[in-house]
Amino acid sequence: MQRSFRPLLSFSLLVLTFLPAPAISRAADFRRETIYQIITDRFFDGSSANNNPQQSSGLYDATKSNWRAYWGGDLEGIQRKMSYLAGMGITAIWISPPVDNLNANIPDGGGNPTASYHGYQARDFKRIEEHFGNPGNTWTEFDNLVKAAHETGIKVIVDFAPNHSTQNNGGEFGALYDNGEFLGNYTSDTQGYYFHNANISGGGWDDRYQVQYYTLFDLADLNPLNSRIDAYLKSAAQLFQQHGVDGFRLDAVKHANWGWEYSLANSIYTNGDSFLFGEWYQGYVSDPLYHDSYKFASKSGISLLDFPLNTAIRNVFGSNGNWSEIDNVITHEAADFSRDDDLVTFIDNHDMARFLSVNNNKNRLHEALAFIQTARGIPAIYYGTEQYLHNDTSGGTDPYNRPMMQAFDTSTTAYKLINRLSTLRRDNPAIAYGSMGQRWINNDVYIYERNFAGSVVLVAINKNEATAYPITALNTSLPAGEYADYLTGLLGGASLTVKPGSGGNNAVTNFTLPAHSVAVWQITGTPGAPALGSLGPNAGQPGVKVTIAGRNFGTTKGTVKLGTTAVLPANIDSWSPTKIVFTVPAVSNGNYNVTVNSSAGQVSNGLQFTALTAKLIPVTLTIFNASPTQIGDYIFLTGNTVELGNWTTTWDGAVGPLLTPNYPNWFICASLPAGQTIQFKFIKIAANGAVTWEAGSNHTYTVPQTGTGFVNANWQY
Ligand code: NOJ
Ligand code: NOJ
Repeated sequence: MQRSFRPLLSFSLLVLTFLPAPAISRAADFRRETIYQIITDRFFDGSSANNNPQQSSGLYDATKSNWRAYWGGDLEGIQRKMSYLAGMGITAIWISPPVDNLNANIPDGGGNPTASYHGYQARDFKRIEEHFGNPGNTWTEFDNLVKAAHETGIKVIVDFAPNHSTQNNGGEFGALYDNGEFLGNYTSDTQGYYFHNANISGGGWDDRYQVQYYTLFDLADLNPLNSRIDAYLKSAAQLFQQHGVDGFRLDAVKHANWGWEYSLANSIYTNGDSFLFGEWYQGYVSDPLYHDSYKFASKSGISLLDFPLNTAIRNVFGSNGNWSEIDNVITHEAADFSRDDDLVTFIDNHDMARFLSVNNNKNRLHEALAFIQTARGIPAIYYGTEQYLHNDTSGGTDPYNRPMMQAFDTSTTAYKLINRLSTLRRDNPAIAYGSMGQRWINNDVYIYERNFAGSVVLVAINKNEATAYPITALNTSLPAGEYADYLTGLLGGASLTVKPGSGGNNAVTNFTLPAHSVAVWQITGTPGAPALGSLGPNAGQPGVKVTIAGRNFGTTKGTVKLGTTAVLPANIDSWSPTKIVFTVPAVSNGNYNVTVNSSAGQVSNGLQFTALTAKLIPVTLTIFNASPTQIGDYIFLTGNTVELGNWTTTWDGAVGPLLTPNYPNWFICASLPAGQTIQFKFIKIAANGAVTWEAGSNHTYTVPQTGTGFVNANWQY
């Protein structure tokens, strides 16, 4: 087996070196990607040399019967499966945290070892875990993986968990290392590297102060407002960028410090092109902190995993809920999130039962896949979905949702489906950038249309197992004509006839949508005026590089405008018909409408960009004896730069709400422009919306150039 495999491998490597590398698009334009989420330990064992390393021996279970032990999967294993992934149409992998994790063996009640095979208990954010790379904890295998991925046209996202290190009450007691140098631990924390509050519990899960400043499940809670920890975490993220990663999935963003995370995102974007999305766990758009989640996503530069939509997807496909549940979340989030198309959508992940454990019905899984791959948002597919991988022990929840990959079969329907729809996402900009409109709905059927600058995709899904539905009175903006099913009948779809009409409402000839079927009809638009699809990052100070993606920019350089100010040609780094990269010029801080004028003089639609004053520094501001408040009243901060809301006094415009663990004192961490002397005041926004300003003159403060800042003030009566 080995002998016949070796020559083949070197032959294909030889061929690869002569092929031009597929063009990797900018990470800031992530909407055209199809993400595949991998738990490295459970994917493929590429090297047995790292299975039971000496510094953490005994954490490996070759029999794969202890679900909380290492099972051998590693970075080389992922690298070896690169063509399998590319063949599925995967264009980005999100790998579980690869950093050096807990070495200690902490036995469970039965004396069996438990290990941090999942990667969420870091001890050193600047080294690679020995079970995934090599016993020296160096970056070799990580670099090899990134190189192989990029050569295959696949981006790499790492899971980065800055909220905590290892558990605080056993094992290594949160001990933290900076590339091997011991920094400190939780039990003798002389430097203030950790927060020492209790575990988040009960109603605390809905409390803005507790979720950020209390402890998540006994995990040593890092204090990023300590300038050493702040610098450590930011330089660790930067190290990953230097090693070529294209993006970060930020673990537990709801539980790290929200204000600090703005500065983390800014630091990453200042270092280079990236895509960031965070895990803000919430079940529904009615969640008490839902408003905070979309304010955070819209302003921080960190998009989110779409948990409310995930709940609806699981209810609709898993438990026979009505399509209106999904439709409602889509409508709700479209109104709230400034960039809902950057939300990362998913059916299941490593923290919940796999879909097939909930509903062992492959048709439904295919329909859910087709939905996330064609609806708004960026799809993330959990490893093994394409192989129908699931283990239903204990309902299939953690750790049984993390089985070892059993097969790498490239002929499953799911594998083919993922490939086909990933191709559509690349080829038809309506999927990546288009509007999302419902065209027809009942409990079982959802027909929706994506639309961008003349490109149109119409998708029809019938999730009923037995009933075919006659579809009448359906309109579309697809031009008149005959459309074949883009999936060529893979999920039972047939062709569609569109009659001429007007106003983007062309009548579709009545047809029958078979039981459990998906059909996709599409057209790619012809050139017209420049059309902006995405812009990222959506905030940055002068000098930061911003990517605009879309269509019809032309081959000759035209103009980019921030409001009425044209960006100087020297600040336009590159220009192609579908992508422009520019450097934020020295404009005044503020919110700008960005537009593109083609060299032929045609003007695009506008997208919002926030020009920051300077790079961001996390500053904790405390106001003592704030204005008396009643239930539902909150204290906010506003001030003279865009980071402070430019004196706006609305819930979304001002900074806040502040936190009040020591009423009537309130505080907040806000990321503010380095080195600037800012003016600010605190305000009360009452439950009924009435605004009360503090009296007196503005407070002033000079934000430090580096590190973290702290400032106190007394409410002026
Ligand atoms: C959320 C991760 O997805 C989960 O798997 C992990 O255990 C916790 N955050 C803590 O890092
Ligand atoms: C208007 C407010 O009334 C005042 O109190 C505040 O100081 C200024 N905005 C900012 O200059």
